[in-house]
Amino acid sequence: MLRDVAEPTDAPTDPTDEAAGASGASGATGAFAADELTAVDRGELDPVARIDELRATIGYHSRRYHELDAPEIPDAEYDALLRELQHLEAEHPDLITPDSPTQVVGGAISTTFAEVVHSVPMMSLDNAMDEAELRSWGERTARALAKLGVDADAAATVGYVCELKIDGLAVSLRYEHGAFVLGATRGDGRKGEDVTANLRTIEAIPTRLPKGATTPAVIEVRGEVYMPIAVFEALNRSQAEAGGHLYVNPRNTAAGSLRQKDAAMTASRKLAFWSYQLGEIAMPDGTPPTFTTHHETLDLLGSLGFPVNPEIQRLGTLDEVYAFCRHWQEHRHDLDYEIDGVVVKLDDLALREQLGVTAKAPRWAIAFKFPPEERTTKLLDIQVLIGRTGRATPQAQLEPVFVGGSTVARATLHNQDQVKLKDVRPGDTVIVRKAGDVIPEVVGPVLSERPEGLAEWVFPTHCPVCGTALVRPEGGADHRCPNTSCPARVAGSIEHFAGRSALDIEGFGESSVRLFQSMGMLGGIADIYSLDFDRLAGVEGFGDTSIANMRAAIEASKQRPLANLLVGLNIRHLANAGSEALAGHFGHLDQIAAASLDDLLSVEGVGQIIAESVRAWFDDPDNLAVIEKLRAAGVNFVGPEASGKPQTITGKAVVVTGMLEAYNRDEAEAIIKAHGGKSPGSVSKKTFAVVVGDGAGASKLTKATELGVPVLDEAAFVHLLATGELPAASA
Ligand code: IVH
Repeated sequence: MLRDVAEPTDAPTDPTDEAAGASGASGATGAFAADELTAVDRGELDPVARIDELRATIGYHSRRYHELDAPEIPDAEYDALLRELQHLEAEHPDLITPDSPTQVVGGAISTTFAEVVHSVPMMSLDNAMDEAELRSWGERTARALAKLGVDADAAATVGYVCELKIDGLAVSLRYEHGAFVLGATRGDGRKGEDVTANLRTIEAIPTRLPKGATTPAVIEVRGEVYMPIAVFEALNRSQAEAGGHLYVNPRNTAAGSLRQKDAAMTASRKLAFWSYQLGEIAMPDGTPPTFTTHHETLDLLGSLGFPVNPEIQRLGTLDEVYAFCRHWQEHRHDLDYEIDGVVVKLDDLALREQLGVTAKAPRWAIAFKFPPEERTTKLLDIQVLIGRTGRATPQAQLEPVFVGGSTVARATLHNQDQVKLKDVRPGDTVIVRKAGDVIPEVVGPVLSERPEGLAEWVFPTHCPVCGTALVRPEGGADHRCPNTSCPARVAGSIEHFAGRSALDIEGFGESSVRLFQSMGMLGGIADIYSLDFDRLAGVEGFGDTSIANMRAAIEASKQRPLANLLVGLNIRHLANAGSEALAGHFGHLDQIAAASLDDLLSVEGVGQIIAESVRAWFDDPDNLAVIEKLRAAGVNFVGPEASGKPQTITGKAVVVTGMLEAYNRDEAEAIIKAHGGKSPGSVSKKTFAVVVGDGAGASKLTKATELGVPVLDEAAFVHLLATGELPAASA
């Protein structure tokens, strides 16, 4: 993967954690507005790299949202990433790939349920973020209709159906001869999951349709399963009473409830349903359906017993449509369910047909998204947290407030400039915003409510944990604690080292790390391997079993792949992708440590920021001492597969064509990888060598010759694996 910029990891989230968030020139999660210049626009970042990075970031968040039901960023931020990608792809159409998130509907499939292929794909919707975007969709549609011969006046008042955009999860329900036979989630739009048994438990979903001459032979109904707010709140009340964890918001809870293996669990969650769209339909005896408009299809759904939202309205002009959007933006909390926008659909089905669809969404509909929600609360205090890299992040401590479906008590204020810019002071009433999901933001103070004489907040000059003077590098926005032994930094780096994307050691969460630190047993990551377990005996929470488990977890961590170790070393800007790239290319920690800046820069996916940071890390004698301790403890330094083979062709691409004597195709590929190399299927100018066996393809040979790539026979290949050298004649 071509990514220079740090990417999200699944390590424990730390608001001060640079590698896990974003860094580099543009910031992986930085919001994007169409009229804003991006780092790519400014020529600071290669579009290929940024596109790749955006796809990875979007993929990560999409998986958290759709599959894990545990989003980490607000919808608005996700949308901004997607828009940045759309913008870049529009400028570089040659870089569009069929699997780009702009071309597929979000939400992949979990493996727990049987797969269902949708007879009509379940598409997503394009978004309009404000009035201008809504109107420009209206104009685009009118122009497209005019091209299709619909006259301008008619096109301008074409007839819209405006529906509330229910914040739940889309499902498709299939009925044959009146019986509910199959219910599926949207999944990736083409294929979803069979959740029939669970859907059957939802009261609002009919299991039989009324019998009659006009009951469709087949009907597929689309709609939204959701959790009413009252149900969500009651669920969280009982969770709190039982001391259980609280659910984040109704949408994710509904999704989790629907994907329970045990349908009785779904039943207990009291989900509800609104139908809003017809999929496949076949009338009895093959008679064609009589309806010509969307609103007639909704009437049909209502008459068949499906709940149709009572707020749906037919409107003639975009002015009316926008007024409807404004109205519901203001009144969204008058409802007993969450909505995050308004869906505007053309009413005329024939016109819809003519307008057609893009790869991802119909042209005949648009989702008007509400702006992020805002609430006010008291700012109790601003605390400065020290992260594993020493970054000092001010964090707002808030009087808990319910916003966007969950209670918020803390929000990051990012850095000194942000606090100054927002001018928020402890004691202020502040506006808190959440884009319907997870990450809360303090927008600013309500000045009219500021108590007289309230003092401005001053960024501390010294680390609140170790007392060292904080530094703010010139040109940077962040303060940091420069003391590498600062207990907060050390604790953060140990937790990170033990995190899932690093060495994955169970039992090294915040509280045990702090405990071991306070006992003087843990001064850095390497001390994990020389913990004095005898001293833990008798400490509360550390029985024989948990100590044995911890020993086993520490032992197992010694065998993690090199890339995980690199992640765990806490090198600034270096996260999963960069670590994979380095591990794949060099194959051994010592080779990375010895690599020059140029060597590092030659690795695909490693740019200036990472390369400099890696070089600087290995130049620090303290870090080298840590490496030696890890080596002495027996931690694996070899990658990518710890093959035990000499890493003679690290990072080199060797293409095999034809049949070799000693290896079949898979074995040849495996042996190349075991020696640190890559084995792509085609020859390019980056190919290091082409190995030919019996019946080799002529095209690969020709290409190799054209590009001057060395061609080897099997004996030369064996020699290459053993020594890393090409025979003199072929080099
Ligand atoms: S129509 C082809 N109508 O929004 C049109 N979708 O961003 C398909 N949604 O996947 C969707 N309320 O989960 C439609 N009244 C409504 C909706 C609605 C919520 C959701 C649905 C869809 C997503 C698209």
